[in-house]
Order: sequence, then C-alpha cells, then structure tokens
Amino acid sequence: MKTSLSGVLVCAVLVSICARSGESARVLGLFPTFGKSHLIIQMEVIKTLIDRGHNVTVVTSLPLGIKNPNFHHIKLPTTAMPGSFFNQVIEERKGLWDAIMEVPATIDMAFSISETTLINLKKTNLFNEEPFDLIVFGLFINDFFLGVPAHFKSPVVIVDTHKPLVHTNAMIGSPDEIFYVPSGLSPITQPMSFFGRVANTLLHAFEVVITRIYRSRMSAAYEKYFPSDKYPSLNEMYKNVSLILLANHFTEGIIRPEVPSLIQIGGIQAKPKPDPLPEDLSSILDGATEHGVIYFSLGTNAKSSERNPATIKSIYNVLAKLKQTVIWKWENGEYPGNASNIFYKKWLPQDDILAHPNVRLFISHCGLGSVVESKYHGVPVLAIPLFADQFGNANGMVDAGFAVQVNYLKLTEESFEESVKEVLNNSTYRDKVKAFSKLYRDRPMAIRDTAAYWMEYVIRHRGAKHMQSPAVHMSAIEYFGLDVIGFLLVILFVIFKVLSFCLCTVLCKCIKKGNKKSHKNKND
Ligand SMILES: *[C@@H]1O[C@H](CO)[C@@H](O)[C@H](O)[C@H]1NC(C)=O
Ligand SMILES: *[C@@H]1O[C@H](CO)[C@@H](O)[C@H](O)[C@H]1NC(C)=O
Ligand SMILES: *[C@@H]1O[C@H](CO)[C@@H](O)[C@H](O)[C@H]1NC(C)=O
Ligand SMILES: *[C@@H]1O[C@H](CO)[C@@H](O)[C@H](O)[C@H]1NC(C)=O
Ligand SMILES: *[C@@H]1O[C@H](CO)[C@@H](O)[C@H](O)[C@H]1NC(C)=O
Repeated sequence: MKTSLSGVLVCAVLVSICARSGESARVLGLFPTFGKSHLIIQMEVIKTLIDRGHNVTVVTSLPLGIKNPNFHHIKLPTTAMPGSFFNQVIEERKGLWDAIMEVPATIDMAFSISETTLINLKKTNLFNEEPFDLIVFGLFINDFFLGVPAHFKSPVVIVDTHKPLVHTNAMIGSPDEIFYVPSGLSPITQPMSFFGRVANTLLHAFEVVITRIYRSRMSAAYEKYFPSDKYPSLNEMYKNVSLILLANHFTEGIIRPEVPSLIQIGGIQAKPKPDPLPEDLSSILDGATEHGVIYFSLGTNAKSSERNPATIKSIYNVLAKLKQTVIWKWENGEYPGNASNIFYKKWLPQDDILAHPNVRLFISHCGLGSVVESKYHGVPVLAIPLFADQFGNANGMVDAGFAVQVNYLKLTEESFEESVKEVLNNSTYRDKVKAFSKLYRDRPMAIRDTAAYWMEYVIRHRGAKHMQSPAVHMSAIEYFGLDVIGFLLVILFVIFKVLSFCLCTVLCKCIKKGNKKSHKNKND
C-alpha cells in the first residue's frame, strides 16, 4: 500500500517535471507602452505563460514588480507622456474641434515616445539573444517594433487593447462589415439606423484614409531601424501576425463576424478571485456594512491632485456630506479637506476593491481597465470622462444603463450631487450592471486559460499559418470581387452581343424571306 502510494507520488512528480521541461518555451513579451492601463492587460496575458513554467523575458519602459525564476525583465528608460500634456488637454478643451484636434496630437506624441523606446531597446543586448519560440507584442502606435519578430523570425501574437480597427482587421483578414458593425473609432451602437449607417460609411472611409497615412508613417520609421536589405518590410510583417488577442468580448455590445485568428480575452485583467486587501483597506471595506463605500479614481494618467482646484472642491463638498465612506485615489499630501468619511491613498488595488461586496459606487474617468473591472464585478459608475477613448467608454456605460455621466468641464456642486445620489439611490444601475456581470463571466474557459491555450497553440505549431484568412493576401480589387464582377460583366456583354448578332441575322433573314414572300404573293 505504502510503496504503491509513494510510487504514484514519484510518478506524478516525474510527469509534472517532464511536462514542464518538455513544454517550456522561450517567450518574449514586447510591451514598450507608456500607458499603464495597457501594460496591466498585457502583463496579465504573459503572466499566464510564466505560471505555466515557460522561460519568459519581458521588455517594458514602465516598472514591474514580478519576481519569478522563469521571468527576466529588460527595463528600458521610462518615457512617459508628460503630465503637462494631459493637463492641457483635459483642462483647456473648448469644444468638439479641440477634441478632434487632440487625436493627431496624441498620436504624434505616442509615436515619438515609441520611437525613443525603440532606440533604447536597440542599445540593449536583446538582439543578440537566441531566437524565441513566441513573441507577444503589445500593439499601440508602435508598429515598428514588429522588426523584433522579423529579426528573430519568431511567430508573433498581438495583444490588442483597442476595439478592432481597419488597421488590425487587415492584419488577420477580419471583415469590416460597415453596414452593421460600427467602426472602432465611433461611439455608434448596434443596431444602426439608416443615418447611423450613412455616418458609419463615411467614418469608415475616413478611417481607411487615416490607416493609409498611419501605415506609411510607420513603415518609414520601421525602415530606419530595420532596413529593407536585411529585413522583410513592415507590410509583410503585418501579414505574418499569427493571432490577435483582443481585450474585448462580444457581450460588451458589438456583434461582428470573426476569423479564427481573433481571440476574445476581454476582462482578462479582472481577477475571478480577489487578492487579500491591505489591512487599512480591508477594515474600511469590511466595516462599511450599513452605508457602503464609494471608490473614486481618475486613473493613472490624469491625476486627481492635478485637476482644477475649484472642481475638486465641488466634488469634495459633496462627498464630505455623504453617509458612505469614500476611498479616494489622491496622489500627493495636499488633500482637498479632512472630512472623517474620506480616506485618501496614493495607490490602490482597484480590482480587489471593486470585488468587495460593500462597494456601492465607482466614480471613474472610464479608462479601459476601469470600465472592464466595473462590469466584471458589477459596480455601478458615475462617469467623469476626461480624455481620448474615455468619452466613448462612458457613453457605452450610460447606454447600457450601468452609469450616469457628468461633464467634467461643466461640473458644479449641484449637478455632481444630483448624479451621485441618482446612482446611489436608484437601484436600476446596480441591478443592470450586476446582471451584466453574470453574463460577462460566463465563458467556456477561464479567460486566462483561453489566452494561454492559444499562445501555447502557436508555440506548438510554430505559428498559425493554417488559421490565416486568405483575405490577408488579397488586393482590394480581389477582396471586393471587382475582378470577378468585371469578368462576369464582360462575359455577359459578349453573350448579349453574340445573341443579339444571331437574333439579328435570323430576324433579318426572316424579314428578307418574308419580304420576298410578300413580294411573291403580290406578284402572284
Ligand atoms: C531563459 O531565458 C533567458 C533569457 O533569454 C536565458 O538567459 C536563460 O538561460 C534561459 N533559461 C533557461 C533555463 O533556459
Ligand atoms: C487637514 O489636516 C492637515 C493636518 O492636520 C492640515 O495640515 C491641513 O491643512 C488640513 N487640510 C484642510 C483642507 O483643512
Ligand atoms: C431615495 O429614494 C427614496 C424613494 O425611493 C426617497 O424617499 C429618498 O428621499 C431618496 N433619497 C435621496 C437621497 O434622494
Ligand atoms: C431610475 O433610473 C431609471 C433609468 O434612468 C429611470 O428610468 C427610473 O425612472 C429611475 N427611478 C426612479 C425611482 O427615479
Ligand atoms: C513569419 O512567421 C513565421 C512563424 O509564424 C516565421 O517562421 C517566419 O520567418 C516569419 N516570416 C517573416 C518574413 O518574418
């Protein structure tokens, strides 16, 4: 009995060691982003491979706090978006025109930061390493980093933290379907009205033009660092992407047809089981059984402490009067006030806080990560969008009935108070987001396991060429079938001509005969 048990144990240990060493692959995580909310998602993806015993190297320009024998960190000098840029954009926006003009300015800023990061990467020893079995790349206005997989000739999987765009759809041949799928740039929701479809078509045309300009700029930068005599072109690299792991899920609103190489991992950064909270937070949250807790954070880029003092004062005055305890992410020591129900802290484990059942309301800027976490944990939101995609995210939350929105630039004590009370007091927001949370979590496989499975799939099969849509390699003329339609029209034309010629000759003969006959008849 004893021997057989120990035999089983030895076997189990041996099997697990064999499984590990047999499958351990060399993986590179290429996450040069300056956006912390993007990095959080990218790191969740790569952590699944570290946990499975793969030998993982990660390149970032932001700090990471991971210690693991399988994990190596190449930390590049930090190149962040300057805080002054955000402050100017957020505090001085006048209207729609300013909002539109922010887009190229933001892309320009992101582009030059990414280029500096690539220059820093070239100074490291990375390019002398052995080839990797897989490269996981965090795409975000930094496409020229695709030169790294070109250098190693490794399969590449993209982690996409945006909604599908013309640009990313083209990489894997995913259809745009503009007459029922809203453009990734638009806040339009499904189903689209007639004018919604008109607007979407025009927006799509605009996106196609922007994508061309964007790609040619990216290619020019790529060729500076990965010259065409040694490397495949950036366009070839776009076509060589094995999979896109998309940080989005169909339950979030947009139904679209998808190719097999698009894998939905929306919600991956929300933990199914929260980590234990630090002592101070757990005592606040556990203790707030009667009135609950409000969690307030404007995210990592646009700090609360750098917002307009008058607006912050209005917000403070409202929050200080509430029965609820408020946990406020505040970045420096100069608090707007010392109300006994407000607890300030510089850094907060947001996902673990939102998972606590006593949280009643999340006051949020509606960044990508915050929206996902509130949906995953079923917490209603008071949205104060500040910048870029936050407006679209906030609109989505309001349309779904999960949130009330206030305009940051027009925020007054009265309007803010009314909105806070509306979300706290009217249970529809909470009920709807709780119901959605159930739907959002219901997947055939845990989200992390899904990501890990597909990355290991690409490792096992050394790429995923067999999954690739043939559309990737087709020209626009072929893709839209213009050549086929043209060909069929020519055939139709020829048939028509031949038929009409035949008909003509037959008819002519008949007529001639008829004429002769009638002549004869007359003569008779
Ligand atoms: C893991 O990868 C690193 C970086 O490429 C390398 O230095 C190290 O030797 C590898 N470790 C194993 C056990 O293969
Ligand atoms: C809050 O309390 C601190 C320390 O007691 C004090 O320095 C600060 O001025 C107070 N802030 C306000 C707005 O009352
Ligand atoms: C909340 O709603 C109830 C009725 O549903 C009302 O009596 C109460 O005054 C409301 N409270 C606030 C703070 O608006
Ligand atoms: C609660 O909010 C919903 C959605 O905005 C609204 O239809 C409903 O009338 C509100 N209920 C109350 C009691 O105000
Ligand atoms: C394309 O990817 C495959 C692996 O998926 C790799 O073997 C090949 O070298 C890559 N081609 C180029 C041009 O980088």
